[in-house]
Amino acid sequence: MMSGLDHVLRYRRLRRTAAVRELVHECRVVTSDLIAPLFVREGGGSPTPVDSMPGVVRHTVETLVEACRDLHGLGIHGVALFPATDPALKDPLGREALNPDNRVCRAVRAVRGAVPDLLVFADVALDPYTSHGHDGILTPDGSDVDNDATVAVLARMAVLQAAAGCQFVAPSDMMDGRVAVLRKALDEAGHTGVGILAYAAKFASAFYGPFRDAVGSAAAAGTRSLDKRTYQINPANRREAVADALCDEAEGADILMVKPAGPYLDVLHELRGATRLPLAAYQVSGEYAQIQAAARNGWLDLVGAREESLLAIKRAGADFILTYFARDAALYRSQPGTKNGVV
Ligand code: PBG
Repeated sequence: MMSGLDHVLRYRRLRRTAAVRELVHECRVVTSDLIAPLFVREGGGSPTPVDSMPGVVRHTVETLVEACRDLHGLGIHGVALFPATDPALKDPLGREALNPDNRVCRAVRAVRGAVPDLLVFADVALDPYTSHGHDGILTPDGSDVDNDATVAVLARMAVLQAAAGCQFVAPSDMMDGRVAVLRKALDEAGHTGVGILAYAAKFASAFYGPFRDAVGSAAAAGTRSLDKRTYQINPANRREAVADALCDEAEGADILMVKPAGPYLDVLHELRGATRLPLAAYQVSGEYAQIQAAARNGWLDLVGAREESLLAIKRAGADFILTYFARDAALYRSQPGTKNGVV
């Protein structure tokens, strides 16, 4: 039989059957790659839904512990905790962040007590606690976030969270020099074993909107499009992002993170080549909300879009992924008929 084309290179040979496709599969997302971000609020009762994030809730400490047990049972190794603080507890200085009995510290103790093997990543930034919604303390004229004053508070916050039992603190504030100061404060307090997951390349992104609904930082500030451009990175700047991330490495970060993930795969890829540290990526609230919203309209296949979005992040260089899809993706992998997430 004559072939129609005089063409030798035929990539379709490796795509002909499921068996050969499996053999040449380059990259997989497994359950142990996933970390679940979870929200915890004040008070009791049932968890309250976050409207802009279908399937995501603000837990009470009790339901948080149940959720952590369930996630651990599904094979997920870690959770990242964020507080939805009662507006009455917010002030311009975010003082509640330094209350050793605040919601997050109590949540960390409860989760560590109930599910000791689960890794708990505690967020270090003031936005859940400030009445203006910024990640730090403002300068006296209120026009900007005061870097050095903020770092001093963050170091105290990190030590409290370490004392509560978290295995990692995760500074998400983007102040300069904070990783070194956190490392020193943790070591001086005896927490040499507590790691730092640095939000090393965090962009001033529009994709954080639903998260701000969840923690109430948007409502506190009276706007969803809080302007954080004096500390978060310009979405146009890849070189600057890599340089800033490498600075966190030099200051003693154990793991570097890129955030958001999907729109910044080039940054993830370049950073993968520039550091030997483990790399994390945060598939943020807006990335989750987009896929959920399109799927709800019948415009995208939820599982297909979810799996492809996670795979792309892994392929670009992430060792693990913080994602609101963590539970669904783990459940999917635990079902018969799926093998390592490949149907
Ligand atoms: C702030 C913080 C943000 C997120 C995590 N920590 C948003 C912001 O900068 O306002 C966003 C996470 C998400 O969108 O899922 N410290």
